Order: sequence, then structure tokens, then C-alpha cells
Amino acid sequence: MPGNTFGRALRITTFGESHGSAVGVVVDGVPAGLPLSESDIEFELSFRKPGRIYVSGRREEDKPEILSGVFNGRTTGAPIAVVVKNIDVISKPYDEIRYKPRPGHADLPYIIRYGYENWDHRGGGRASARETVARVIGGAIAKKLLMITDTWVAGHLKSLGPLELNTEPSFEEILCSRNSPVRACRKDLEEAYQDLIMRAMKEGDSYGGVAEIIVRNPPAGLGEPVFDKIKADLAKAILSIPAVVGFEYGLGFKAARMKGSEANDEIIVKDGKPRWRYNYSGGILGGITTGEDIVIRCAFKPTSSIRKPQRTIDLRTMEETTISVIGRHDPAVAIRGVSVVEAMVALVIADHMIRSGVINPVKLSKEDIDRIESNWRRYIEACGRMQGSQ
Ligand SMILES: Cc1cc2nc3c(=O)[nH]c(=O)nc-3n(C[C@H](O)[C@H](O)[C@H](O)COP(=O)(O)O)c2cc1C
Repeated sequence: MPGNTFGRALRITTFGESHGSAVGVVVDGVPAGLPLSESDIEFELSFRKPGRIYVSGRREEDKPEILSGVFNGRTTGAPIAVVVKNIDVISKPYDEIRYKPRPGHADLPYIIRYGYENWDHRGGGRASARETVARVIGGAIAKKLLMITDTWVAGHLKSLGPLELNTEPSFEEILCSRNSPVRACRKDLEEAYQDLIMRAMKEGDSYGGVAEIIVRNPPAGLGEPVFDKIKADLAKAILSIPAVVGFEYGLGFKAARMKGSEANDEIIVKDGKPRWRYNYSGGILGGITTGEDIVIRCAFKPTSSIRKPQRTIDLRTMEETTISVIGRHDPAVAIRGVSVVEAMVALVIADHMIRSGVINPVKLSKEDIDRIESNWRRYIEACGRMQGSQ
């Protein structure tokens, strides 16, 4: 199987290359009746968009065009195809990469797998994170579906290189990070991130970072033991994102250094219902959602395309040489990566909501649609309200 499709009940198939004419997605399994417009999708794409300070200078409009599956502003139950044209393509800086594969990038593995003569080297071709535009489009549709249960997905950049937020932000602060050019959820952290990135850019280097994603108010009981546990599906979704090198949820790797008495998620009664005291398990136990907020973190490596010269080989002579990568690159891919992780998380949760019967797989009821519309309005307003605060 070629590996361009993700999901079970809700499926995305992405297509397109960095310097091809367009990138896009086919989203299948969306029930009929979901109100959906190009501006809903564009709203989500705006947080991933390049062409601004601290990220890649590529000036893309990222205007989505819905080709199918929507009639009179509502989904019909048919596959939804959406494309975004690539308009700011400059392939010249990739001439050298054709013969000198970048250290840390997918160039050489693609050549090994597909053959040199079949490899689209322009902008990283299919391995380029331009493909993640398609994921964010799918994620926008999934996020709208999640409004049925008033479930919101939001993320922020928890750490960048050596800098880290060491307090727990509120969900509102996390939402607020959407208006930060570096996805920071606090002003002081934003300034520190900006200084660090400016320094890296001057030095022709890059930084990695950790994105943290919260799913607020998820339904309890999602996830199918044993191989389709929600943690397993989330891990696959997130590790499929370019440059992601690690995934954890709840206490994550910290749990390995703790005692059982410290790490156990104590069960308590709150408002007459069983709840978990500290949510140490990040909303997932036994691969099933507990109903507590889902807390996920993932590590992005530093951008591999850097100006600093590094060793590689010249494929024409098979001799060792160096490369200094030019062109337009993100100094820290984790900044725009946050939106991509949000999208993949939303897709997994929506997929499991359909699989477990929380969302009708065929057609939404009038009550569902009303709830989606009013919760989506609140969501857009909440993001807008945050605009001035960063
Ligand atoms: C939003 C986003 C933007 C990215 N931008 C760049 C970039 O400008 N330059 C680059 O070399 N890698 C960039 N990457 C990472 C590469 O696509 C990725 O490292 C490469 O495909 C190799 O895959 P791997 O790191 O998962 O092994 C970006 C990743 C994401 C998620």
C-alpha cells in the first residue's frame, strides 16, 4: 500500500509536491449535513501559513478551493476534495541538492527507494512539509465535526531549543498562542523565542522544539483495544508528520523515572462522577479516553536545511564534499508544526468518534448541526478575542 491515506471511518488522502502545481486532500467519511466553507478551512490554514517573520519566507496565499462534497454550504456525504495552488515556487536553489543530498533530510532515502531518475528534488518534492497543508485542511473539517461534543483542540510551542515553559498554561493561553508569531503562549517566552531564532538565523543554524496539544472536553470511551488504541493511533498520526522525532502523552517519559505511588492517576468523585485527580495519564488509560483532557507532546527536530556548511557526498563523483543549504527554510519547523499536530490529533479523535457511534457516520441531525454552528462561532470568537492579547 502506498501510504498516502490515513484514518479508518474518517480518511484523508493527501497529494501534491512542494514545487508541483498544487497540494490537496480528499477527505472521505464526513457525514452529510456538516456546514463547511472555504473560509472555515482558510481560518485554520492561516496559522500554518509561511511568508512571515520567524518562519519560511515562501509567500503562499494558501487559498483553499473545495472541488467536491459540499452543496449549499453543507457536506453531502460524498468525498470532499480540496486543493491549494502553489504560487510562490523558486526551484533554482535546489539545483545543488540534486547532486548533494542534504544531511538530516529525506533526499538520499528517496533516491535509494524510488531511483535517482524518478526523484523530484524541487523543494523536497513529496517529502516537503508543503504536504502538511493537506493535513491542516483535513484537520479543519475534523475540528468542525468535534464541535458536536464541544471538543476543542489547541496547541502551543512548549519549548524551543534550550528554552522551555515550565508552568502549566490555561487552555485560553494555549489558544492565544495562535496569535504569536512563534506559537508561544506567554509574552516573556515569545520574546525569548524570537531572540533565539534571530540568533540561529544569523548563524545559519536552526532549532528543534516541543509542541504540546490539549484536547479539551473529549468524550470518554474512545479507542479500540488492542491495536487501535487511541494512544497508538495518535502516535502514528503524529509520528507521520515531517520532522517529528518523539511522542508522549500524560506524564510520558517522566513516568519511567517515577514510583507507582507517584505516577498513579488517583480516582476521585467530583460532582457525583468518577474522575481522575491529576490527569497524570493525559486523558488516556488502557488506550481508551477517560473523559479528562487529552494532553500530548511531541518533539520536532531542528530544521535540517541550514546555511552552516555540513558534510555530504557528491553523487556524481561519489566523493565527500560539503553543502551550505540556501533557499527559504523555517529556522524552527516546530513553530508551524504546532498547527499540523493539532490537525492530526483532531482527525484521530473525529475518526474514533465516528467509529464509536458518538457521531452518526451517515447524516448529522438538526440538533447536531445547530450545536456545531454555535460552538464553531464561539471557537472562532475565542481565537479572535485572543488577537489583541499577544
Ligand atoms: C511545518 C513544517 C515545515 C518544515 N519546513 C522545513 C524547511 O523549511 N526546511 C527543511 O529542511 N525541513 C522542513 N521541515 C521538515 C522536513 O520536511 C523533514 O525533516 C524532512 O521531510 C525529513 O523527514 P523526517 O525529518 O521526518 O525524517 C518542515 C516540517 C514541518 C512540519
